[in-house]
Amino acid sequence: MTTKIIEKTVFELSRPGLTGASLPTTDVPEADRSVIPGRMRREGKIGLPELAEVDVMRHFVKLSTLNHHVDKGLYPLGSCTMKYNPKVDEDAAALTGFASLHPFALGGFSGGAVEVMAQLGEMLCGIVSHDAITLQPAAGAHGEFTGLLVIRAYHEKNGNPRRDVILPDSAHGTNPASIVFSGYKPVQIKSGPDGLVDIDALKNILSTETAAVMLTNPNTLGIFERDVKEIAAMVHGVGAQLYMDGANLNALMGIVSPGDIGFDVMHFNLHKTFSTPHGGGGPGSGPVSVKEHLAPFLPVPVVVRDENNEPFFDWDRPDSIGKISGFWGNFLVMVKAWVYLRMLGSEGLREVSEWAVLNSNYLLSRIQDYYGLKYSGTPMHEFVADATTLKEYGIRNIDVAKRLLDYGFHAPTMSFPLIVPDALMTEPTETESKASLDAFADAMIKIAKEAAENPELLHRAPVTTPIGRLDEAKAARTKVLRWPIPDDL
Ligand SMILES: Cc1ncc(COP(=O)(O)O)c(C=O)c1O
Repeated sequence: MTTKIIEKTVFELSRPGLTGASLPTTDVPEADRSVIPGRMRREGKIGLPELAEVDVMRHFVKLSTLNHHVDKGLYPLGSCTMKYNPKVDEDAAALTGFASLHPFALGGFSGGAVEVMAQLGEMLCGIVSHDAITLQPAAGAHGEFTGLLVIRAYHEKNGNPRRDVILPDSAHGTNPASIVFSGYKPVQIKSGPDGLVDIDALKNILSTETAAVMLTNPNTLGIFERDVKEIAAMVHGVGAQLYMDGANLNALMGIVSPGDIGFDVMHFNLHKTFSTPHGGGGPGSGPVSVKEHLAPFLPVPVVVRDENNEPFFDWDRPDSIGKISGFWGNFLVMVKAWVYLRMLGSEGLREVSEWAVLNSNYLLSRIQDYYGLKYSGTPMHEFVADATTLKEYGIRNIDVAKRLLDYGFHAPTMSFPLIVPDALMTEPTETESKASLDAFADAMIKIAKEAAENPELLHRAPVTTPIGRLDEAKAARTKVLRWPIPDDL
């Protein structure tokens, strides 16, 4: 109780205009008590656990080590870019001036905060050679939806809303979902044997009903779509727009600029490429940048600068698709991206991409004698290994993934791309050292050997983690949340 009173006193004293004499006490006045209906008053102790601070601290530290996370070990979850993020970005986002800013505090959001947003937008447009941007979307998928609505508004303004959005069969699942959500019909094209868009197939389905072609570059096999300029010419030839899913931009920064090779619209995943850990449903940010002709359709308000170079929220945009987020977007994710970009500068960003590509290819060179690659193109920042090489021993990608946990690593992505049935989509990211890449490669090779020698071990894996192999569907449907944690955990 004494600690509580001291905490409360310090908190109250930190508020401006309060003196010691005006401090409230912790006692509930009798008058206030009587307003609580008798049937709702507590009759005895609540029965909450009485714990010392040290026990609470140990409990949470223990919990944090039961799970795998990027601060604990390599996390090569392809396409999710689970890289280590500098802690200084978190510190900046935690500064009171940013963290306590209320979205309705227009005074606050017309000063430093809007300057951060304006500068961030300018830096992002500079990286991709686009002319205008919205920072509002709160995730990559939300960005896709926004970008497609912008395209729709553009076509409608030109008197023809169109019908189809074409996408390759390697696309991330959010792409077709966003297409349907924005009122379009997804039309899929097959990838060629090199993993790239089949240009002839594309030529055959492009029409004046095509609203857009949506590509990920590098695509989800990690392979650069090298024919983008030709594709852009074909797409623009029928009056359609070329959309880039920029979730894999971490392979291209400072090397290839999407706007220069023909992309009209793209979304960023700030929470993957520019700090803020991805995954776990945490806050994200999916800005959408566009070329000049699409700028009028961006959601309001757009952050622009006045004649004195001061940034402000521009609401006066009659062709805008309207508002796409409750407020201005996930502002603190923007702060982290701003710090990340300012710290690295253009040279640093290029290095990030070069290291991402080098690390991935080094890892691939170490394990490629043990796992296959279904498509022949050279991957960039990630590769999709194919575990069907182990099928003869009855081993699937999930067995490899589970056994990796025993060796202290998170698994690669297995759920997509759907065109690789036993996919192990591996993205080591630029932040891993050669030593940690080697340790991961050693584990992958060891697992391939175990598959041949002792496949049963892999079927039982993981055997060293607090929880063994789960029935995945049951685990998702039946959650067990309990206190105290059993000793055997
Ligand atoms: C290629 C690709 N596109 C789109 C997305 C969707 O992004 P978000 O999860 O932020 O909605 C992801 C997410 O991992 C992705 O990998």
